[in-house]
Amino acid sequence: MKSTFASRALALLAGSTAVTAQFDFLSDLSTSPPFYLKVSAPDNSSIDGRFLHACHTGAATNTLCLGQHTPSTSDVAGKFYLKYKQSPDDGYLINNIKILNGSTGNVELVAEPFRLALSAATNVAMTWFSPEGFADGSIYAVKFTGDGLSLPIYPVDTDFREGVRPDPTGVDASSWYTCWVLAGSYYYNALAWVTGGIPSNPTCRPVRVVKVDVQS
Ligand SMILES: *[C@@H]1O[C@H](CO)[C@@H](O)[C@H](O)[C@H]1NC(C)=O
Ligand SMILES: *[C@@H]1O[C@H](CO)[C@@H](O)[C@H](O)[C@H]1NC(C)=O
Repeated sequence: MKSTFASRALALLAGSTAVTAQFDFLSDLSTSPPFYLKVSAPDNSSIDGRFLHACHTGAATNTLCLGQHTPSTSDVAGKFYLKYKQSPDDGYLINNIKILNGSTGNVELVAEPFRLALSAATNVAMTWFSPEGFADGSIYAVKFTGDGLSLPIYPVDTDFREGVRPDPTGVDASSWYTCWVLAGSYYYNALAWVTGGIPSNPTCRPVRVVKVDVQS
């Protein structure tokens, strides 16, 4: 299983030109200490306190699955860090993925930035990590506030008024849900972001996401 996945991952990396060059924007940034991501859902004890981990959705791509009440301390899939300019709480959320390098035969860690996978069929955007480049614009900077993991606010258009330009300031930590999502051939209970309004997917439960330092 593992080698099949690694081979497919490698095939994808070989097919995309200069994977490392595409993530050059990350190499100029500082690296935060590693942390786990924990779900907070005080109203639902079956979700509350569970940790998120990157889970396989396709060649070298992952979503953020709801895991156990204890983090996986040995596995890169459950560890995250931020690449940042000013503050280690404000930057690009990164998960490392293990990739088999065909030229050396070594297993290497490749940094994958957090993104959202939007679909025309739903207002539930899947959390996504993939090795594709920055150019498609779906990589989001994140921020940790007192409310946990947040994304920049894009004003919801239900509040739009004629001729009054909405002000896109601040961050939002309240649009996270855990939902059953169909990711390729996989059906997972995973962290998702609702782009506006009530989630169209009835399995979605509202959550917050907090970071927990990895004890070194
Ligand atoms: C709590 O979350 C679980 C998993 O998504 C769900 O099956 C259950 O219905 C939720 N309970 C409540 C009270 O919302
Ligand atoms: C694979 O190894 C070669 C030789 O060390 C290196 O130049 C290349 O960047 C590696 N590829 C990846 C995806 O890390």
